[in-house]
Amino acid sequence: MAEEPDKELTPIAAGEKTNYSDGIFDRKTARQFSSNKVTQEHIDLILKAAFAAPTGGNQRSWEFIVVTDKNLMLDMKQGNSYSQALDTAPLVIVIAVSPQTAAYPELLTMDAGIAAQSILVQASKLGLASVPMSIAPQKARIDGVSRALHIPADIVPHIMICIGQPLTDAVSSASTNFYDERKVHYNRY
Ligand SMILES: Cc1cc2nc3c(=O)[nH]c(=O)nc-3n(C[C@H](O)[C@H](O)[C@H](O)COP(=O)(O)O)c2cc1C
Repeated sequence: MAEEPDKELTPIAAGEKTNYSDGIFDRKTARQFSSNKVTQEHIDLILKAAFAAPTGGNQRSWEFIVVTDKNLMLDMKQGNSYSQALDTAPLVIVIAVSPQTAAYPELLTMDAGIAAQSILVQASKLGLASVPMSIAPQKARIDGVSRALHIPADIVPHIMICIGQPLTDAVSSASTNFYDERKVHYNRY
């Protein structure tokens, strides 16, 4: 069967957006941030959103390390060549998991990912830009972040999210209509 040509990707229309939840389609990605700090009130709201995320078997085996110290952020870059956002971000939240105490350790990666999305959406709702950056499963990244933040050996940092005001206009593909019916299957594949 001949392949269908790629559909043109269009921004989601303003009217259409009203039916979507804020925070998802207006999420902005930034890798360069202004020096404006994120307020403690906003940090608390972002953390509450993270704790509201679902986990497998309700195991809730994550922990969140809030980093605001720029020297620590620069240390976290060791072993992670794709983490330039750490140079300027005023806030980084590291999502770490505890495989040894988790009831379902095989689900921890998904738990961390879902908590990350909650953080991204809440940050977006507060008008803040963000970028998620993976740590696990790369050993060099796990070691670099663990060493910088004194994370004990039985706790594994999985993903970190830089958050702040973007230095310039932040862009994101989140507002692009990526809906692709070829990737959606109803009832049978
Ligand atoms: C699991 C995961 C890991 C990512 N790791 C990095 C990373 O190490 N460094 C980085 O700059 N961006 C990272 N990103 C951000 C993606 O590059 C970005 O979300 C993607 O390009 C889509 O852009 P958008 O968020 O603007 O839609 C990661 C995103 C995800 C979901």
